[in-house]
Amino acid sequence: MEPQDGREQWGNRAGFMLATLASAVGLGNIWRFSYVAGENGGAAFLLAYVLCVVAIGLPAMLAELALGARARADVVEAFAPPGVSRAWRGAGALAAFASFAILSYYSVVAGWACRYFAGYLDGSLARLPRDDLAGNFAAFLASPAEPLVWHFIFMAATGAVVAAGVRRGIELAARVLMPLLAVLVLMLAGYALSLGGAAKAFAFLLVPDWSRLADPGLYLAALGQVFFSLGIGMGVLVTYGSYLGHGERLPGAAVTIAVGDTLFALVAGMAIFPAVFAFGLDPAQGPALAFETLPQVFVQMPGGHWFAVAFFFLLVAAALTSAVSLLEVPVAYAMRRSGRGRLTVTVPIALAAALAGIPAALGAGVWRDVRLLGRPPLEAMDHIAADLLLPVVAIALLGFVGWALPRREVVAAAGLRSAGLARSWFGAVRYLAPVAIALMLAATALASQ
Ligand code: PHE
Repeated sequence: MEPQDGREQWGNRAGFMLATLASAVGLGNIWRFSYVAGENGGAAFLLAYVLCVVAIGLPAMLAELALGARARADVVEAFAPPGVSRAWRGAGALAAFASFAILSYYSVVAGWACRYFAGYLDGSLARLPRDDLAGNFAAFLASPAEPLVWHFIFMAATGAVVAAGVRRGIELAARVLMPLLAVLVLMLAGYALSLGGAAKAFAFLLVPDWSRLADPGLYLAALGQVFFSLGIGMGVLVTYGSYLGHGERLPGAAVTIAVGDTLFALVAGMAIFPAVFAFGLDPAQGPALAFETLPQVFVQMPGGHWFAVAFFFLLVAAALTSAVSLLEVPVAYAMRRSGRGRLTVTVPIALAAALAGIPAALGAGVWRDVRLLGRPPLEAMDHIAADLLLPVVAIALLGFVGWALPRREVVAAAGLRSAGLARSWFGAVRYLAPVAIALMLAATALASQ
């Protein structure tokens, strides 16, 4: 049943949960989590990560969802209820811009995953000898057209899902792909654990080196990963929350999604690290882990070819449902603003995001010498979007929910029944979460000087 104003809605609660989980589960859980955890000592990182999810991620998620569910509007309008300063709209516009910016380079990395999927599917990558694998990745990045073509293909697929609508595009994709991904990642982990690196992988991911917990850098890395992985601070949760019907229980949804997202990252780690250890490779490889290190594992393991096909399919499908959520934020805004249809606004926005991603796509190759803020384009864009825009928008969002809106309405929108829980949540929204994020921002600024 469509509401009277003609705004789209989820088919039902399960559809909303799957779509939101599908937005959270993406490259962040597989590609980013594995390399950041790998670089930060595994178990100690995981501990800090879980701490940040509970203390900061969950309250922030609930705040974003509540804002969307209350406003039933796109992210810019959600910041503009009657009686509130118009200046807040700027925060909404920044959120829409942040998701657009992340989409532009997210699609580039997703394009790499598409290329690896295609390469294993047709067997061309599986036939390469082990010593050629790293060089093959470099040659792919350096080619003038290949990374661009895959980036555009992936963006077109993202646009197609969004253009099909909230229920028939976004929700349907999540309903089909999420269960498939869950089965696939469990199977991959099961197989990887049988390879002989299991004990080492468990020790790496579950037995912390306590001395690492004294390092403040660990918590910053963990907090950044929590934000990226849960998809907080870009207006995605506001937008997805705005397609809910009345009276949904948001706290339960936020907990389920946070737990599901974390489990997914853990199981993906269980698919990746045992294989890495079984073949004596180093888990602290950085962003190349999935594209350079894992193919070396695939060459050596029995059935590695099919493991690779499944793994890169997982990566592409997970990335697709996340990219879709990023595109939906500016699309929802543009639809309301221009009064035009979904398709009419989706095409130019997806095209603009594809064009904005060109420096990132070429920056590892033909435009190797280009520097933005002293970094290669992809890293610079990730840094600006994830380390700067995202925390700034998150602070604005929390500030808006915690300080600009009437407390009673906000607590009612969040749907926390117990007064004690409501008090702690509101305290986290007002003080704990913004302060923690501000610290992260300050540390990032200091680190980049
Ligand atoms: N959470 C997604 C991931 O882990 C990425 C994403 C970020 C999606 C922000 C939506 C919003 O890959």
